[in-house]
Amino acid sequence: MPDKPIEIWDKVDSFFTDALIPPDPALDAATAANRNAALPAIDVTPLQGRFLELMIRATAAQRVLEIGTLGGYSTIWMARAVGPNGKVITLELDPHHAEVAQRNFQEAGVSDRIELRLGPASESLAALIREKSAPFDFIFIDADKSGYPEYIQQSLKLSRPGTLIIADNVVRDGKVIEPHSPDPNIQGVRRFTELIAAQPRLSSTVLQTVGSKGYDGLAISIVLS
Ligand code: SAH
Ligand code: DHB
Ligand code: MG
Repeated sequence: MPDKPIEIWDKVDSFFTDALIPPDPALDAATAANRNAALPAIDVTPLQGRFLELMIRATAAQRVLEIGTLGGYSTIWMARAVGPNGKVITLELDPHHAEVAQRNFQEAGVSDRIELRLGPASESLAALIREKSAPFDFIFIDADKSGYPEYIQQSLKLSRPGTLIIADNVVRDGKVIEPHSPDPNIQGVRRFTELIAAQPRLSSTVLQTVGSKGYDGLAISIVLS
């Protein structure tokens, strides 16, 4: 992420956020709680939260998997989108993040549709595979970028034809194009890209994004078979 987003990106993000996303006591309280608890300000933006909602509604997803909860800002958007009979399983490594998230879920009134699993995501995913979990309809990958290669391979085992998989932060201020980057996050995203490209079960694209969180992008894949 750049230290400071380009001013015009920030202003345009605010313009469309003010126009399209009304103030929302539960989401605004979650954002405030996350900053008060000193969680890093790397939640999806309001417009990106709406994008996740739209993708979930468009695919009528009922079972959602999120890898990387933080304070649960994105989780609340997705839990609302699945509706009262849907379910979101969200995976988080950091117990402090998980505790803040659980409080935010309660405040937002969506705790009953969310299951937070604490621990390294690769282990939680392995457990879901072992438990023969029903396939997910929608998967949002947003934890440590160095883990993306493993998360996509495990996600495929938790998918069915039609499952939509979105991975956040694949552009990283453009650093993704540096083949010799020493940053394990960049190497993770590069390897992730090779894997989705070579995977015949996936059809994939990437959307570059700018806004209040800088210059980044989303990888979007659909499971074909
Ligand atoms: N989806 C959230 C943001 C997630 S930030 C939102 O948009 O609101 C990334 C999160 O992944 C952090 O909370 C971090 O603690 C968590 N994380 C990092 N490494 C992890 C791992 N190995 N397993 C599970 N979670 C991890
Ligand atoms: C980082 C992680 C994220 O999930 C994000 O949206 C932005 C930044 C990070 O680890 O730097
Ligand atoms: Mg992210």
